[in-house]
Amino acid sequence: MVSLKTIILNCAILLTSVQADDDWNTLVGTWSSKSNAVFTGPDFYDPVDELLIEPALPGISYSFTEDGYWEEATYQITPSAKDHSCPVAALTFQHGTYEVNSTGSLILTPFKVDGRQLLSEPCEDDGVSTYSRYNQTEIFKKYQIYLDTYHGRYRLQLYESDGSLMQPLYLAYRPPQMLPTVTLNPTASDDASASGSSAASSSSANLSKKIKRGLENRYKTNAVKRQTIDYQFWWFTSLGVALFGCLLIFRG
Ligand SMILES: *[C@@H]1O[C@H](CO)[C@@H](O)[C@H](O)[C@H]1NC(C)=O
Ligand SMILES: *[C@@H]1O[C@H](CO)[C@@H](O)[C@H](O)[C@H]1NC(C)=O
Ligand SMILES: *[C@@H]1O[C@H](CO)[C@@H](O)[C@H](O)[C@H]1NC(C)=O
Repeated sequence: MVSLKTIILNCAILLTSVQADDDWNTLVGTWSSKSNAVFTGPDFYDPVDELLIEPALPGISYSFTEDGYWEEATYQITPSAKDHSCPVAALTFQHGTYEVNSTGSLILTPFKVDGRQLLSEPCEDDGVSTYSRYNQTEIFKKYQIYLDTYHGRYRLQLYESDGSLMQPLYLAYRPPQMLPTVTLNPTASDDASASGSSAASSSSANLSKKIKRGLENRYKTNAVKRQTIDYQFWWFTSLGVALFGCLLIFRG
């Protein structure tokens, strides 16, 4: 004879397990805006040749690791301030370290020497884009993670420092798809004059090799593409299983 207490306990365990997904309420992962075309990682920025690679569509992407590193890839097209029919395209890469402070603000500090921006103003620059260093600390007032039942995906909502909403981001990879979380261009810092010497160029060749190896290793082990969750199906199936389990216990 099974006691009522056991039945309730088992049903409670089953129903809890339905709701508790694997620690989903975390920043960790690669997030991408609705176009789902821009992702951080080696497909956006090639640190060896210092190349920014234009995605098929504009969008933004942020990645976060468990141990406090972040990476950003953005491809944005805006109208020119001077001529509204004239677009300005900007590709930006940054990475560095992040923290969430005690009031819940998310602070992204870049590795200053690594950031790059490619700016293209076709009506201004005669087709010659400007490639430059870029470093900008980013502060978000807060962030929230939801299970978006409409899109069937995890959604990250970032709030600008003035409290306004950023465009929503959706989970694309967990663990994240990112470049190595180290300074990629240490030789390019203060001592730019040394870059011509054989010592500096050999160490940068070595670094390139290390990065390439790092990327290869990453491909083997890391980023996992997140499929869209059929939320309704998942929920009702789980509930069905839980109720069936409860019924079996009850009848046993
Ligand atoms: C957290 O960071 C935000 C943004 O920089 C700042 O306004 C706030 O005062 C910080 N809170 C604490 C407790 O440091
Ligand atoms: C970071 O950006 C500022 C402002 O654009 C610039 O003055 C500074 O030299 C940059 N730092 C590095 C290390 O590139
Ligand atoms: C790489 O570094 C090693 C020492 O750590 C050095 O012997 C070797 O010559 C370097 N290779 C290149 C291609 O610079």
